[in-house]
Amino acid sequence: MRYYLEHLTTWPSLSYVAEDSKGRIVGYVLAKMVQDVGPDDEPHGHLSSVSVLRSYRRLGLAKKLVIQSQEAMAAVYKASYVALHVRTSNRPALSLYRDTLGFSLHVLKRKHYADGEDAYAMRLSLEH
Ligand SMILES: CC(C)(COP(=O)(O)OP(=O)(O)OC[C@H]1O[C@@H](n2cnc3c(N)ncnc32)[C@H](O)[C@@H]1OP(=O)(O)O)[C@@H](O)C(=O)NCCC(=O)NCCS
Repeated sequence: MRYYLEHLTTWPSLSYVAEDSKGRIVGYVLAKMVQDVGPDDEPHGHLSSVSVLRSYRRLGLAKKLVIQSQEAMAAVYKASYVALHVRTSNRPALSLYRDTLGFSLHVLKRKHYADGEDAYAMRLSLEH
């Protein structure tokens, strides 16, 4: 709960929900800024989580939610790029990030997740 609350109270313009016609939440994106960076890095956005209810998938909701968040990262916080981690086995998410949104592989992080799975660290420039 603390994790979600920190995102929503600190960077309220970066997280969004998708609702059905009755106002039920069917998808969300949770994102934040990484501003406390070293001399070799720039302030950037981080996509913490995105998920869409199974029966609402492949309708373009995740794409729309992520783009909305990226636009706010650039407009509100002047983020130069957005970063994320994704499980190497998560084919749908990989396709969304790489093929649809244009993210590139930055590094492979071995055993990044608590269960021992590797993660791809990916990035997308927000500068045009
Ligand atoms: C990954 C996820 C968020 C995608 O949500 P979605 O709303 O279905 O995605 P979109 O409709 O915006 O899809 C955009 C593109 O992503 C790719 N994609 C999405 N689902 C895919 C699948 N099951 N297989 C292959 N490619 C897929 C496609 O390129 C798709 O474009 P297309 O439909 O024109 O082919 C959804 O599958 C999900 O909630 N998964 C469980 C949670 C998760 O893994 N989140 C990501 C890690 S935090």
